[in-house]
Amino acid sequence: MDQLTAKVTADGSLTFFSEDYQECFHSRHGAKQESIYQYVVPAKLLARAQTQSEIHILDVCYGLGYNSAAAIEFLYNSPTRLVIHALEIDAQVPQQAIDRGIMTVWSETTQQILKEIARNYTFTDRKVSVFLHIGDARQTIKTIPLQWADAIFFDPFSPPKCPQLWTVEFIKLVADRLHFDGCLLTYSCAAAIRKAMLAADLIVGSTPPLGRVAPGTIAAFNSRWVPPLTIAEQEHLRTKAAVPYRDPNLCDSATTILDRRSKEQAESSLEPTSQWKRRHNP
Ligand SMILES: C[S@@+](CC[C@H](N)C(=O)[O-])C[C@H]1O[C@@H](n2cnc3c(N)ncnc32)[C@H](O)[C@@H]1O
Repeated sequence: MDQLTAKVTADGSLTFFSEDYQECFHSRHGAKQESIYQYVVPAKLLARAQTQSEIHILDVCYGLGYNSAAAIEFLYNSPTRLVIHALEIDAQVPQQAIDRGIMTVWSETTQQILKEIARNYTFTDRKVSVFLHIGDARQTIKTIPLQWADAIFFDPFSPPKCPQLWTVEFIKLVADRLHFDGCLLTYSCAAAIRKAMLAADLIVGSTPPLGRVAPGTIAAFNSRWVPPLTIAEQEHLRTKAAVPYRDPNLCDSATTILDRRSKEQAESSLEPTSQWKRRHNP
């Protein structure tokens, strides 16, 4: 069982540090702030709520539930109904977040909803339905209807720590669940993950940086969602850093996936990323 240690982030909200992954669940600049400004705001949920009677969100890597909580909080008093499918491998994460009082940054209503999700893996009232699918997302994603999601919150641990969820094959399964006019948000701007998104026919762009220099990524099939990449970002996608992670049968370990990519990078004739860095950050 993963050992989870509570940590305070810069906006005062708490997160966990995972002993297994040696990584925090959120940015140290603010867990609550990240869920709002990295995910909910760029997904333009309030604007959608004016025109859609129901909004569908796919929350990949539910964790403590911050991203779903932020969406619930934003939309609970709007005219629309919210339906969330969330994927998570470890049921003790949302449970411990409740037991250790971490979710008190949210309203009473949202906290009650999160408690029920952690206990029963589902919640429904007249404004929101949430279904938490416990298991390896590489399998549970297959139960989500195709082209269903208006917004996808894509929040695995970082690619070097959890490459299983950043592969060409898994990202294709995720993209298949995205509606033509939907958008996918993630905190990472790694060239390898953008390349995997392009391979799934998504258009990719940057979201504004949040407390750090690097931006996040927004991806969609409809270009209206996506600001154009800069020249430097486009060239980054032609370097060795853009060699994507691969998991042909969607069941390999992190080590196997990392080794496979290192080998492909070593054999690749793409420009070394250090050369690209010198050109753009001399
Ligand atoms: C960065 S955290 C997500 C943080 C979360 N969005 C939140 O707001 O708290 C990554 C999560 O991915 C989960 N995870 C790791 N491997 C997974 C897998 N193969 N399938 C589904 N979830 C996985 C971890 O248990 C962890 O909760």
